[in-house]
Amino acid sequence: MCGIIGYTGPAAVKNILLEGLAQLEYRGYDSAGIAIAKDDGSIYIEKQTGQVANLKAICDQADDDGHCGIGHTRWATHGGVTRPNTHPHQVGRVTLIHNGIIENYHEIIEKFDLKDQLVSETDTEVAAALLNHFYDGDPEEAIRKAVQELEGSFAFCILFEGFTDRIFCIRNVSPLVASSTPEGSLVASDITAVIKYSKQYFVVPEYHLMVLYQDHIDLFDENGVKAEPEILEVNWDVESAQKMGFPHYMLKEIHEQPEAIIKTITPRLKNGLPCFEGEGIDDEFFKNFTNINVVACGTAMYAGMVGKAIIEPIVKVPVSVNIASEFRYSTPLIDKHTLTIVVSQSGETIDTLAALRLAKSCGSRVLAIVNVKGSSIARESDYVLYTHAGPEIAVASTKAYSVQLSVFYLLACKCALVRGIFDETKGREFIDNLYKCIDAISGVLEHKEIIEKAVEHLKDAEHAYYIGRGLDYAFSMEGALKLKEVSYVHAEAYAAGELKHGTIALIEEGIPVVAFATQDAVYNKTISNIREVKARNAYVILITKEDAEIPEGVCDLHLTVPIKDDLFTGLPTVVILQLIAYYTSIARGLNVDKPRNLAKSVTVE
Ligand code: G6P
Repeated sequence: MCGIIGYTGPAAVKNILLEGLAQLEYRGYDSAGIAIAKDDGSIYIEKQTGQVANLKAICDQADDDGHCGIGHTRWATHGGVTRPNTHPHQVGRVTLIHNGIIENYHEIIEKFDLKDQLVSETDTEVAAALLNHFYDGDPEEAIRKAVQELEGSFAFCILFEGFTDRIFCIRNVSPLVASSTPEGSLVASDITAVIKYSKQYFVVPEYHLMVLYQDHIDLFDENGVKAEPEILEVNWDVESAQKMGFPHYMLKEIHEQPEAIIKTITPRLKNGLPCFEGEGIDDEFFKNFTNINVVACGTAMYAGMVGKAIIEPIVKVPVSVNIASEFRYSTPLIDKHTLTIVVSQSGETIDTLAALRLAKSCGSRVLAIVNVKGSSIARESDYVLYTHAGPEIAVASTKAYSVQLSVFYLLACKCALVRGIFDETKGREFIDNLYKCIDAISGVLEHKEIIEKAVEHLKDAEHAYYIGRGLDYAFSMEGALKLKEVSYVHAEAYAAGELKHGTIALIEEGIPVVAFATQDAVYNKTISNIREVKARNAYVILITKEDAEIPEGVCDLHLTVPIKDDLFTGLPTVVILQLIAYYTSIARGLNVDKPRNLAKSVTVE
């Protein structure tokens, strides 16, 4: 939700900001802007609606004067997608960019009589006006006073008149990382914009005031006492965040799944069995809980649905899966006997973070499955299992989902072992099956042209339905979400047996139905449900295991996954679904990596 970049150093700042914004664009792309402190002390501001490329086109004409500046790419919350609402906002002697939401901005306007100074509809401009109100030549004092008034989430980078060689920053909830490098000091919403300059960075602690100078960074805690940042190092390089010959990030990231799964599971195996000692989690931990509460948003929540379908039948503990934005305002029936698993690619999703805090306050232990090292969710959880997907740039999540699934498989196996449900032989067999999924995904990717065929029908559809039972139903939710996100085809996932209780009324000639029948135990039942839609002339794309015997006339297109064990069909199936969504988006001429209205990291409620 909004991308922030700031730089001060010996190099000309303009291109550093524009390149950084391009890297952060997945966080929002409604509009973008930069503010540069020119060498004469004046501030040059340029903004443009639409993607960063639009901003770049107008900035290309500007000279390269200036070595300190801030840039912002916006995902609109307060106020439409207009030039005045685009950051940076300047009020009097203060210029700032913001990620987050100031919830009490109406009250602040009234209390400090700021109305006449505002030209935009944004909450951000109110924060700029408030800072300007308090600014009498001491930026740090102005920030401290302003922050005491603000409610909500924020990450601010601020330029103050009179101090235009440095950037002042402060945050609450919304993410901000910083890096001091020989080529200058950088601050950004996340490491993707910084990695070109340094692999070392730190997460700016909440409510700490940070000042970026050309050659160093100062950090002060809430009491104004100098603080030492905790330096982290990223374990991927700049190439990981580039397309590497693929036409789109989404396709590249789909192809990266086998490697990402290997990187996620292999370090957690000891003698062929799951081991989380490296993460400080001993076997006792997996013995004691009586129920599991999974909380997440979007694709991560759908990974949780699959987690439930894997863990419950094996470990025999109840697993509930909750949408974080609902859970955080509920009265959860959890306590110290509950294991809460929060799942998040970014580790910054605000609702998931709030849900985590609520779960902890109920006494539940919290285990996080997170991709981004040092993120808020990772830091606040009792235990973290990092997925090793590397940076995921396409807005629609693909590889992050499959590594989340692979962690759920490891957890299921571990729980079964420590609870005496699996012996070691059974455990090793389970892990072997997980590895077979990796080959199966590679097999799907090698024959992806078959999947392009499915798209011939989907590309002109207005609606599509995804149906399956059990685990197949869990995958179908993610499949439908993927199609909606990137192709704007309205898609619904339904438990195949439930379709006839209403939704089947929508099935008419030619409607695409993506049907999954990979589960032997319910295979015949699912085939009956597919016949029901086929009888109403739906166009059926059927996904089964390779050895399934398909009754005559039950589908229009048949795709298979090269897996024998029902519990493991999910990973390759999901890759088929991702490719269906990807090719449909491309066939419809859409921007698959940056679908409209979406943002990758949702740091507002
Ligand atoms: C956004 C993204 C989704 C993602 C969800 C949760 O909606 O567009 O792809 O699944 O947030 O994000 P998280 O980072 O918590 O996994």
